[in-house]
Order: sequence, then C-alpha cells, then structure tokens
Amino acid sequence: MKFFIDTANLDQIKEAQDLGVLDGVTTNPSLMAKEGITGAENILKHYVDICEAVSGDVSAEVISVDFEGMVKEGEQLAALHPQIVVKIPMIKDGIKALKYFSDRNIKTNCTLIFSAGQALLAAKAGATYVSPFIGRLDDVSTDGLALISEIREIYDNYAFETEILAASIRHTMHIIDCAKIGADVMTGPLNAMMGLLNHPLTDIGLKKFLEDYKKGN
Ligand code: E4P
Repeated sequence: MKFFIDTANLDQIKEAQDLGVLDGVTTNPSLMAKEGITGAENILKHYVDICEAVSGDVSAEVISVDFEGMVKEGEQLAALHPQIVVKIPMIKDGIKALKYFSDRNIKTNCTLIFSAGQALLAAKAGATYVSPFIGRLDDVSTDGLALISEIREIYDNYAFETEILAASIRHTMHIIDCAKIGADVMTGPLNAMMGLLNHPLTDIGLKKFLEDYKKGN
C-alpha cells in the first residue's frame, strides 16, 4: 500500500518524508488556502517546492471546470515537474480531460469520487488514480469503506490498472481498514499516519527493557 500525505504544509511533508515511508503527496485548493498559499504564481511555486521535498507523485488540482481550461491548466501543471499528477474533478468534461491526458501519458488523479459508477467511468477514461472520499461519505452516514470494496471488486473483475487512492482519511483506523480491503494508496493527514506507531504495550515493553539493561550495567 502506498502512503500519500494529504496536505500542502511543507514541514509536515518533510516530516513524513524523513520517516522514509512516504510515497507521495495530495493537495487540493482548500489545503493550499489553509497554508495561506494564494495567487496562481505562488501556488505553482509551492507545487515545485513540494516536488523537491519528496520523491513520489504530487497531485496538483486544476481549477477549471471546462475541457479546454482543464487541458490548458493540466498541461501547465504537468510541465512544472515530472512528479506532478494532474488532479481532475469527476465531472463530464473531467472525463474527457482524463482521456486526453491518458492518451498523452500524463498521470491523472480523478478527485471527488463518491460512487462506484464514477470510479468505473474514470478507469475507462484511463485515470492513473481515483480518489474516493471515504471520510466525507462517513460524514453523511454512508459507509465510505464499502465504496472502496465495491471499486476494488469492479477493478479486479476487469483488471483495470487505475489505482484506488483512498482519500479523505480521517484517522488511523481508516488506514488499516483500507489496507485490509486492498486500497492501492491511502492519502491522509500526518497524525493519522503517525497513529500507526502507537501501542501502549510497546511503550511498557521498551521501558522495561531499558530499566533491565540499566540494572545489569
Ligand atoms: C484528496 O485528495 C483530498 O485532498 C482529501 O483527502 C479530502 O479530505 P477531507 O475530506 O478531509 O477534506
């Protein structure tokens, strides 16, 4: 399972990268705004800074909602850095844009996926990744993990190469559940990732080992 961090915060990105288990980064316009990164020029520069801080794929989202606009923006984003993955919304023109980029071997991430039908369409259009938002589904009393399972089954039936990127991860248990179901990638906040480290028996065990070592020395 690949681990992506879902943030535009460079310190957190570097902390995850330093851990040695990071495979990429996802961003969105809200995450950029949260870090105070505004204005086209600053946003483009920030994408380059993120790419230089990590070794994997970095999703950069288009703002346009028409085919021509998405193509123009996506080409500009893809030209920024070889690690950029063009993030395209799940709308009709987005499907056309996914096909356009797929035909040109430019990586894409189809975002705002909330149904198996949307994931099927995005895979048919050649998306590199699809991003089902499991946390936002859970927020409206709908089982986000069930959607990951449905997409897994469909993609396996037809050997689609599109990777399931479980997004809108809210906590550590989401990561474990997604791994059990077979999501290819998860993208989440640093604290959800770091939560995988924790177990009280590890802390108790280590404390005892160190105490016993000191006794013998
Ligand atoms: C995915 O690419 C999105 O950036 C993200 O996972 C959305 O998460 P949220 O629902 O916590 O905003």
